[in-house]
Amino acid sequence: MVRNYNLRKRVLVTGGAGFLGSHLCERLLADGCDVLCVDNLFTGTKDNIAHLLPSAHFELMRHDVTFPLFVEVDEIYNLACPASPIHYQHDPVQTTKTSVHGAINMLGLAKRVKAKILQASTSEVYGDPKVHPQTEDYWGNVNPIGTRSCYDEGKRCAETLFFDYHRQYKLKIKVARIFNTYGPRMHPNDGRVVSNFILQALRDEPITIYGEGNQTRSFCCVDDLVDGLVRLMNSPDDFTGPVNLGNPGEFTIKELAQKIIAITGSKSQLVFQPLPSDDPTQRKPVIDLARRVLDWTPALRWKTGWSEPSPTSTAPTGNRAQNKGNGRADHVSPRRPPHGRDFQ
Ligand SMILES: NC(=O)c1ccc[n+]([C@@H]2O[C@H](COP(=O)([O-])OP(=O)(O)OC[C@H]3O[C@@H](n4cnc5c(N)ncnc54)[C@H](O)[C@@H]3O)[C@@H](O)[C@H]2O)c1
Repeated sequence: MVRNYNLRKRVLVTGGAGFLGSHLCERLLADGCDVLCVDNLFTGTKDNIAHLLPSAHFELMRHDVTFPLFVEVDEIYNLACPASPIHYQHDPVQTTKTSVHGAINMLGLAKRVKAKILQASTSEVYGDPKVHPQTEDYWGNVNPIGTRSCYDEGKRCAETLFFDYHRQYKLKIKVARIFNTYGPRMHPNDGRVVSNFILQALRDEPITIYGEGNQTRSFCCVDDLVDGLVRLMNSPDDFTGPVNLGNPGEFTIKELAQKIIAITGSKSQLVFQPLPSDDPTQRKPVIDLARRVLDWTPALRWKTGWSEPSPTSTAPTGNRAQNKGNGRADHVSPRRPPHGRDFQ
């Protein structure tokens, strides 16, 4: 039954206790939604959302999305999935199950309760791209049997399921292809490049670069990314995506390390190690579609001042500003880099 009385929107965020999910829960609460965070706490933690628990409009449910879920909601953001190679390769079978069974369970729920559903997909669906920069119509170059495949192919299959539910059952779907995002509450030891380099620099340890460091990446501030997800969810029903969300500013990994060393004043040296298998050499989103349909542009160039809100953000700043600084990224840094300095 569709509710026709005026209450807060009931929004489910799977993976809501993780890095991106916790910021999204904050944003949705600030927007006046009733938020249900569903998480099995595999990589997420209660610390990420502890500051939200006192709110009467926030609820944490410990649940694994590979099992069916029966709740009443109006919108679903499906973020549950370990996102860093260290985490998703820990139990690759469970990673694929989380993407595929998780998608089936959340799509089934959306179908039952007629909810709109958004999938947090990834730039990894492009694999090691032969097309650069990447547009949404590029089908990708993914190894189906490598050690990263549990994540890449799981996410690709989830996209397929979303579009089949859309075609077959007329479900309202949204698919976001998220590129590298950084900000408070990133896992400090998950092996992702930004957190790795910052930690190594702050400890004056050698900074590990895989290969020659000429592979490129782009980095989006978490506030911008969350704003893009909310805009996508609120976009017209006939807009499904997939849509790239990321910052098109591009760095080589070596440049990134050098900039982090300069900003932190670190004594770290660069050390070079062999490139892991299937590590993409280039990654940069074309975001014309997001600009045109969502009126979304990542406003921040790459800065250490990640608590600065995006001018494109429509959310009230009160709660969000208060909550900054609760993130674990703050705890790892006795010598936190100065705010607002441009990396570009
Ligand atoms: N952070 C990025 O740069 C990035 C880039 C591309 C895509 N994404 C996608 O965004 C989503 C969130 O990524 P993140 O960086 O916040 O990662 P994260 O590991 O911090 O968050 C993932 C969350 O999902 C939860 N989870 C994992 N398996 C689950 C399961 N079976 N049932 C319920 N909960 C489960 C974890 O406990 C965690 O809280 C992921 O789907 C990821 O693929 C992230």
